[in-house]
Amino acid sequence: MDRRKFVKTTAVAGAIAAVPNSVWSALSGLGGDELERKIKGLLPQLSLDEKISLMSGVLGNTAKEIATGAFRPGQGHGYTGYTVGVERLGIPQVKCLDGPRGVGFFYKTTCFPVGIGRGATFDPALEEKVGAAAGYETRALGANMLLAPCINLLWHPRWGRAQESYGEDTHHLGMMGAAFTRGVQQHVMACPKHYAVNNVEDTRTTVDAVVDERMLREVFTPHFHKCIEAQAATVMSSYNHLNGPKAGQNKHLIREILKQDWGFDGFVVSDWGSAMDDGVQAANAGLDLEMPTGKFYGAKLKAAVDEGKAPVAAIDEAVTRMLRQLFRFVGPDYDQGYTQKNIAGPEHTALAREVARKSMVLLKNEGQVLPFTGIKSLAVLGRLAEQDNLGDHGSSRVTPPYKVTILQGLKKNASGIKLSYSASATEAEALAKNADAVVVIAGLDFNDEGEGHDRKVMGLSEEQIELIKTAAAANKRCAVVLVGGSAITMEGWVEQVPALLMAWYPGMEGGNALAEILLGQANPSGKLPIVFPQREDQLFPFENKAAKVEYKGFHGYRWFENKGLKPLFPFGFGLSYTEFKFGNLKLSGKSIPKSGKLTVSVDVANIGERAGEEVAQLYVGYPGSVVERPVKELKGFQRIALDPGQTKTVTFELSARDLAYYDTVKSAWQVEESGYNVYVGPSSLKEDLLMGSFKVSGA
Ligand code: BGC
Repeated sequence: MDRRKFVKTTAVAGAIAAVPNSVWSALSGLGGDELERKIKGLLPQLSLDEKISLMSGVLGNTAKEIATGAFRPGQGHGYTGYTVGVERLGIPQVKCLDGPRGVGFFYKTTCFPVGIGRGATFDPALEEKVGAAAGYETRALGANMLLAPCINLLWHPRWGRAQESYGEDTHHLGMMGAAFTRGVQQHVMACPKHYAVNNVEDTRTTVDAVVDERMLREVFTPHFHKCIEAQAATVMSSYNHLNGPKAGQNKHLIREILKQDWGFDGFVVSDWGSAMDDGVQAANAGLDLEMPTGKFYGAKLKAAVDEGKAPVAAIDEAVTRMLRQLFRFVGPDYDQGYTQKNIAGPEHTALAREVARKSMVLLKNEGQVLPFTGIKSLAVLGRLAEQDNLGDHGSSRVTPPYKVTILQGLKKNASGIKLSYSASATEAEALAKNADAVVVIAGLDFNDEGEGHDRKVMGLSEEQIELIKTAAAANKRCAVVLVGGSAITMEGWVEQVPALLMAWYPGMEGGNALAEILLGQANPSGKLPIVFPQREDQLFPFENKAAKVEYKGFHGYRWFENKGLKPLFPFGFGLSYTEFKFGNLKLSGKSIPKSGKLTVSVDVANIGERAGEEVAQLYVGYPGSVVERPVKELKGFQRIALDPGQTKTVTFELSARDLAYYDTVKSAWQVEESGYNVYVGPSSLKEDLLMGSFKVSGA
C-alpha cells in the first residue's frame, strides 16, 4: 500500500480539517503580547481534564504498524506520538515524528548522513539546509514536530548513540544544533534532545549522572542554550537521572537553567516512556508534556491537582507554553503548499549527496594513493561494501525510497575501470594482487552500536583486520574506508595502510559521494568532530554498566591535551587532495574590556593544484586562569572554498563573554581579567596552529 497516501488522507486531511478555522485563524501566526493575551483568555475556557490531556501524549504507532499500515483503531495515525488537542476551541494536536538523520520511520523519506558525519562538515549553513529539508518532509507528512536534533555531547566514543549527535565539543555541537533547529523551524517545531547528560545506552533509563554545577554549565548544556537562542520551540528531556531525580524531573535543570536563566518560552517533552517516575515532581520541575502516554500525568496528575498535591499554576504554565508554540507554528492552512512529491525528491537527495561528500574525512594519504586516477582496475573488498548500512535501527532509523551502497556507487561512477568485488577473505589476496588498486570497506553497523546498546569494543573485528592486512600486503595502492558512528581504534594495522578515509554512515546517497571522492571527482574536506585515540586505554574507563556515573575532569581532545597524550588523529583533523597554508594571523588589539570583542583574521591560501575546501578553526587557551581549564577550546570555525592559487582572509569575532567560566560560588559566569592565547589553523594539532595572545582588562 502507498503509505504516503495513507498519511495524507487520514492524518492530514482528517485531523487538521476537523479544527474550527475561525478560532485557529484568530490565534495562529500571532506573536508577542497579543498572542499571550489570547492564550490567557483561552485558559479559563479549558477544563482541568482538557488541560491535562494537552500535557499527556497518546501512543503513536510502532514501526511495524506504520510499515504495514496496520494502525490500531483510533490510535496512531502513523505518528511517533501525539496529543489529541481540543477540537471545540481550535487547539491543534502535537504530532511528532523522529528524528536526527531524516524523518523516521518507515516513510520513504530522505536519509541524510548521520549527525556525526554532518558534524564532520563543520558547515552550519549546510546543516541548516538539512534541517529545512527534514522540516519540510515532516510537515508534508502532516506532523508538526520533528524529534531532532540530537545534541548530546560525546563523552566517550563507545556511547551507542554517538552517531546521532554531532561530536564531542560543546561549541561545535551548539553551532550545528542551532543551524539544524533554524532549518527545521522554517516548517515545524524542532526538539533538541536529550536534555541532559545522556551519555550511556546500556543503562540509559536507570543511570544517575552525577555532575557538578560548573561542568553542567560549561560542558553539558551550552549547546542546548545555543539552540534556545535559535528559538527552539521544544526540548526533550533525557531518560537518565541527573544528580538524583530523573532529568525530566530535575527542577534545577528545567525550571532554573532552561526556563529561568535562558528564558526558554517553549515546552519540554519527556523522552518516550521510562523518562519519568513521579508526575508531581515532573510538573513542579517544569516538564510540560509526557510522552508517549500520560502514565504519570493523565489521571494521576488530575488526582494530584484535586488533592492539592500538584499546583494548578504548574498546569497552566505547561498549557500556556504548549499553546504558545502550537499557535506560532500550526495554522489552519498548515498543509497548504506542501506536497509529498518533494519527499526524497531530487532537491533533497542532491543535498544528501552534497552533505555526504563534505562529511568524509581523509585521515591518511601517503604517496597520494588517493584519488584512484589513472587506474584500469580496482578491487573492492569487505562485506560492508554491499551492505545496506545507513546506521542505527533505533528511533533514528530512516527508510529512504532507495539507497546507493558503496559497491553500487563505485559501479555507477567508475567508468572505464574494471571492478572486482569480494566479501570473503579467501579471495581477497588474489583480487588485490590482480588489480591496479584496492579499497577495503570496513567498520561497524547497527549490530555494533545504536540506541539502547553501547559499543563493546573500539576496534575492528579480527576478520576485518585480517582482510585489511592481506589487501595492504598484496597491493601498495591500498586504501581503507571506515564506516561507523564514532571513533575507531586501528592498532596493529593502520601503519600498513597508506590511505585511510572515514565515511561515517553516509546516508542514502553515500555510495555515490564516496565514489566521487575515491575517484577524484570530488575533493575530501571533512574534519573529525571527535578525537580518535590510538588505543582505548588512552581514555578513562567507559562506565556504561554502572548505576551511577560521576562526570569529572576533561574528555575528548581536552583530555588528551591535558594529559599530554598523543591521539591517533586529533580533533578537527582532515586532509585534502590539495594543500592549504595558513598565515598572517592578526588580532584587532592587544587588550579588550570584559564587555568587548576581539577580531581575529587569518589568510588561508590554496597552494596545491586543485580546488578544495578547508575548515579554519579558532581555539582559545587560558594561561593565566585561576581555575582549572582545558589547554585550549574551540571557539570558532569556518568552512571556505578555495581555487588553486587563491587566498582568502577569514575573520572571526570573539567576544570576551566566550571566555568565561562558571563561578559556582557566585552562581554566575565570570570573565577573568587575564592573558589569553588564540590559536588558528586547520586542526587542533599544536604544530598546525598559528598563535597570538591578548588580554582582557577593565569592564
Ligand atoms: C528516543 C528518542 C526518540 C523517541 C521517540 C526514544 O526512545 O530516546 O530519541 O525521539 O524514542 O521515538
